[in-house]
Amino acid sequence: MSQNPLKDIMGSLGRELTGRKITLCITGSVAAVQAPEIARELMRRGADVYPVLSKSASELVSPKLMEWATGNRAVVELTGQAEHIQLAGEWPERSDLVLIAPATANTIGKIASGIDDTNVTTVATTALGTGVPIIVAPAMHYSMYRHPVVLENISKLRSLGIEVLDPQIVEGKAKVIQTSEIVEAVMKKLQRKDLEGTSFLVTAGPTLEYIDPVRVITNRSSGRMGVAIAREAARRGAETTLILGPAEAEPPTGIRTIRIETSEQMLEAVRRELEGERYDVFVACAAVADYRPTSPYKTKIRTVEAPVIEIKLQATPKIIDLVKKISPETRLVAFKADYGLSNEELIQRSRQILDSSGADLVVANHVGVGGVGFGSEENEVFLIDRRGSVTHIERARKEAVAGHLVDYIVDHLRLKGP
Ligand SMILES: Cc1cc2nc3c(=O)[nH]c(=O)nc-3n(C[C@H](O)[C@H](O)[C@H](O)COP(=O)(O)O)c2cc1C
Repeated sequence: MSQNPLKDIMGSLGRELTGRKITLCITGSVAAVQAPEIARELMRRGADVYPVLSKSASELVSPKLMEWATGNRAVVELTGQAEHIQLAGEWPERSDLVLIAPATANTIGKIASGIDDTNVTTVATTALGTGVPIIVAPAMHYSMYRHPVVLENISKLRSLGIEVLDPQIVEGKAKVIQTSEIVEAVMKKLQRKDLEGTSFLVTAGPTLEYIDPVRVITNRSSGRMGVAIAREAARRGAETTLILGPAEAEPPTGIRTIRIETSEQMLEAVRRELEGERYDVFVACAAVADYRPTSPYKTKIRTVEAPVIEIKLQATPKIIDLVKKISPETRLVAFKADYGLSNEELIQRSRQILDSSGADLVVANHVGVGGVGFGSEENEVFLIDRRGSVTHIERARKEAVAGHLVDYIVDHLRLKGP
């Protein structure tokens, strides 16, 4: 926990950026209003954020606000303290990354030309010289963005190794992309790449089982847990494929995603992937329906014609039972959600899954109690492995739980080598 009360949110959403120092440079675009939110979101992932405001930016957003938002002094001009060196120079305490968001046409042009006459451009010049990674998020009217020299300058930044996040073109403006995408780009750049050279297949979300062409049986899975795991694996360098049911959770950008609806389609997609590619890890996080109607109606059932109907259900095939048969080398991580059991009973049932499916790890959680699991932003799980050890991951945001789970997979499932 930080000693500074202004920093009490650090790490509240995850620890992906814990121990990381980020210099947030803000330039004179109205999108500077987004800067406090960008800073706070980076802090929620654990980062310590140091604001630098150009003179024009200070006229649009108050340095005091940025000081409050970050808990650190806002640099509005360079002084005898040589703030550019403190933030991005050749010494151990420098920043891990410089983020320029929003970036004006002016600042982009100056950096592209090596001009260095503001606090922001001096920080950028220093970072380029030191090799500190820089991410730039441009914002301007579309007419400015279309200017061939501005576009040329953006290409120039890219050729210098700077990551430029394409703006979203809306209402005649090239607006800074959403805060969540900026944070995602920062995490991707800074996160450990301990899964490079490995591949993950993850299933997520519920399935739909048709009663008739318009009615379905489903469950309340939101898909958030599986999407968070796929994101975490991809960020850490794994080649990741997500098989996603009709979930509330948005499909993640930049991850190969196969959309399916029914348990049968989920099974076929898993089979195709495992037969077609070598996956190091399969995380079965989807809440696949346990039952489906034996013979769905071909046309819509009408209540006037059938005031009472009986639907016969049959158990669906267990996807996890298939995994080791097709791909014995793949590490199988199976989720087990249950209701109304004690922790001991839940762990006991998980051990049975280890035996029946050959899983390497079972991630067990209680659903429907205390607001965790299905449909919730949070989860609390037990990891039960083949050696009989049980690890408790305390209640936390699903993104944070995903981080702990992937740490466990890396540390205990020996993905690389013998
Ligand atoms: C209200 C207002 C909004 C502005 N918005 C933008 C903008 O979105 N993008 C941009 O490139 N310039 C914008 N400008 C112009 C820049 O502030 C101007 O080019 C300034 O010199 C940029 O300096 P800086 O890059 O050092 O912050 C805006 C100016 C004003 C007064």
